[in-house]
Amino acid sequence: MSSPAFTPFTLPCGATLPNRLAKAAMEENMSDEGQIPGPNMLRLYQRWAEGGTGLLITGNVMVDGRAMTGPGGIVLEKDSDIAPFKAWAEAAKKNNSQVWMQINHPGRQVYAAMGGDVLSPSNIALDLGKHSHLFGKPRAMTHKNIQQLIQRFADTALKAEQAGFGGIQVHGAHGYLISQFLSPLTNKRNDEFGGAIENRMKLLISIIHAIRAQVSPNFAVAVKINSADFQRGGFDSDDAKTVILALNELDVDLVELSGGSYESPAMQGNAAESSSADGRTLQREAYFLDFAKEIAQVATMPIMTTGGVRRLAIAEDVLANGIDIVGMGTALAMNPSLPNDWKKNDQLIAHNPAVQWKDKTLSSIATMAVIKRQLQRMGKGLEPKVNASPLFSLIRDRLRLKKLTKRYHEFLN
Ligand SMILES: Cc1cc2nc3c(=O)[nH]c(=O)nc-3n(C[C@H](O)[C@H](O)[C@H](O)COP(=O)(O)O)c2cc1C
Repeated sequence: MSSPAFTPFTLPCGATLPNRLAKAAMEENMSDEGQIPGPNMLRLYQRWAEGGTGLLITGNVMVDGRAMTGPGGIVLEKDSDIAPFKAWAEAAKKNNSQVWMQINHPGRQVYAAMGGDVLSPSNIALDLGKHSHLFGKPRAMTHKNIQQLIQRFADTALKAEQAGFGGIQVHGAHGYLISQFLSPLTNKRNDEFGGAIENRMKLLISIIHAIRAQVSPNFAVAVKINSADFQRGGFDSDDAKTVILALNELDVDLVELSGGSYESPAMQGNAAESSSADGRTLQREAYFLDFAKEIAQVATMPIMTTGGVRRLAIAEDVLANGIDIVGMGTALAMNPSLPNDWKKNDQLIAHNPAVQWKDKTLSSIATMAVIKRQLQRMGKGLEPKVNASPLFSLIRDRLRLKKLTKRYHEFLN
């Protein structure tokens, strides 16, 4: 079948992706003891590789074990044992797919129960109303902290290359540390890393420079940034364009455009609610497309968007709008063979697990629990269970995370 989604794509670094479909990063919370990938992670990634997705981007891997986005997360530092990461990369490449490691630092988006080191550009805590106490209180980073952080990103990227990953993706979106530097709401610094967007983006630019100085030229270096934070006075699409113009000058292979943060979770589809009646279906399903199209106008590197794609026709629309790669998270959790299945049946629609309870926060946590449950099932060699009970999945998830948080405390000590 000749869909544009199944045409290969060559990146600036020279690597070729077998098709235009990518698995977007999804934090698995499935690490083995020691915050490393184990057999269940290998099975999960092999399952995705066999399903025909051209590019697999891992869930975010932490550059510093003292700062985690969540329990059961993976840590890769300069002195980490590389063997489990080699096995992980190998499993994910079983079908000629490319595998990239997403690397991240959570900054202030750290659960208080996790503990560790909560850093941010300024000491501004997360504002989630009555839920704010669930997050740690950040301290403003010193100049030395910033230099060490830049080096950590470069060290983790180099280790990923040594382990056999074809590239890395720097997570500069969703309200994590780099995104905190980019936003004027969280970055109140008055040194060279704060103030105008040219200063706020200095951390991201320095990280990309440091990574490129350490890895090979044929190793892919990608960035995920928000097209906007969707918060009044926050990082907006003009800021995003300025960042893209600066990234144009560096050897960046792909920019993935997303949106939102913990305070404004647009990456879960909320941005689409403000879309107009005109072309609504497309907007709701590929909900960052309009922002991405506008920002992509200034980009010289390839662009990927992620959010809401479940049908081949929508993936093709994204490509027809000038976007190079279509990212999917949820759809590939519900059906890891979706690309191969589309080759046999181009009308197939991946199951949408969105929970629609009255309480929106609870619905979104339950939806995440249902999705993560599929990852755990595939890790055990089972098929996804698309009609899993949201309530049961939520309770199970909470108990599981509690246990993993306790295990992380032992790792920290
Ligand atoms: C369970 C889960 C975990 C996620 N973890 C990450 C992550 O580690 N890094 C990241 O950049 N995005 C993460 N995301 C966001 C996805 O990459 C994606 O942007 C979002 O789910 C919207 O795309 P979709 O509608 O295809 O799922 C996660 C999403 C889900 C559902």
